[in-house]
Amino acid sequence: MPRIEIVPSILSADVGRLAEQVKEAEEADADRIQVDVMDGHFVPNLTFGPLVVEAVRRATKLPIEAHLMIERPELFLEAFAKAGATLIEVQVEATSSLFRTVQRIKELGAKAGVAINPATPIEDLREILPYIDLVNVMTVEPGFGGQKFIPRSPEKIRRLRALSQEIEIEVDGGIDARSAPLVVAAGASVLVAGSSVYGYKGGVAAGIKAIHEALD
Ligand code: DX5
Repeated sequence: MPRIEIVPSILSADVGRLAEQVKEAEEADADRIQVDVMDGHFVPNLTFGPLVVEAVRRATKLPIEAHLMIERPELFLEAFAKAGATLIEVQVEATSSLFRTVQRIKELGAKAGVAINPATPIEDLREILPYIDLVNVMTVEPGFGGQKFIPRSPEKIRRLRALSQEIEIEVDGGIDARSAPLVVAAGASVLVAGSSVYGYKGGVAAGIKAIHEALD
């Protein structure tokens, strides 16, 4: 059983004290930090750019993944790599040159991830799978934190696992102590958690602990 990694996403953090919130996650043994990048076109929300990745880089030694929920991510790969992202995730729906985009991410020295939205068939990833490090199976429609986990997501994760025994499967959206065991049982090993960590009443460390305990 691979080690289950928890990746707090800063979308639900208090951005006014971002460095502190990132440090809280690091001290609570988070495995990496996700910066949810949104451009107001690919998703109906506008969030962070490379400057925020730089700020997170200054605040933690943890690896940083930049989840680019943006149109034409190929235009911004250098900027996010230079800012300190060690894993760059692009949406399969957002670029017409996914192979070249993935190659470029790796040339920049970052790991390459592809995120896939709920309505996109997992089979759309078949040809790119051998070239990437991770697939992020979106378990909500991207754009906002605090949304409801899509109940049929575990079936989609199982279909991805059937396509590849090696690929690292990340999930993102509505992941908490209740949904975490469902997605792990289906084959996910990297759990992005925003509101269930940064919105947790007992604080960040307690939120991360609650998810780990639900998996024990
Ligand atoms: C896309 C965002 C969210 C975020 C997780 O909507 O990228 O998925 O990471 O948010 P929660 O954990 O609050 O659903």
